[in-house]
Amino acid sequence: MQTRESSAERIEVVFTAEAIAAAIDRMARAIAADYAEADLRIVAILKGAMFVVSDLSRALATLPGGPRPTLDFMAVSSYGNDTRSSGEVRLLKDTSESVEGCNVLIVEDIVDNGLTLHYLQGLLRSRAPKSLKTAVLLDKPYRRLADVRLDYVGLVAPDAFVVGYGLDYQERYRTLPFVANLILPSGESAR
Ligand code: IMP
Repeated sequence: MQTRESSAERIEVVFTAEAIAAAIDRMARAIAADYAEADLRIVAILKGAMFVVSDLSRALATLPGGPRPTLDFMAVSSYGNDTRSSGEVRLLKDTSESVEGCNVLIVEDIVDNGLTLHYLQGLLRSRAPKSLKTAVLLDKPYRRLADVRLDYVGLVAPDAFVVGYGLDYQERYRTLPFVANLILPSGESAR
């Protein structure tokens, strides 16, 4: 399916809202099985993971015996307004609560070169959590620069710049209920 967003750019649906919901449900079941009745602190990374964490945490709440996580947030900036990673990660907002001694689950929208997640995992690990795992909705494994461990992956994204379901291009497209490939006026995927 193709959708014309503006005369300058096009988007092409990659994952429908239904495919995303199914992936979130699979992730929730795997997380629930691993944590059972354990305390769980979810640290979601703003702004991209806002819809993932919203749907994932509510999916967990409906699973019998699943964890009832508490939610905290961090915000980082790694891309500025570009589609390519600058490699620089800047912490814009830290967690509100200490993670020391907690079972921490990072919830991210997408992992591409891995530098953002590598920074976040290192920072949180240095704060002595009881355990640290990572759940990511979309994995783009094609251009990894940092060796990062992903414990729960929703879907493997194509090697393209995608938008929607929290993911933006210059702050646009975040609120789309699906994930789409962003195609620039040149006809190329914004990568
Ligand atoms: P990484 O450091 O290259 O792994 O990128 C991580 C961050 O870059 C994500 O949390 C997103 O905010 C952003 N990002 C990476 N790939 C995409 C994409 O295809 N679309 C939108 N944002 C992306």
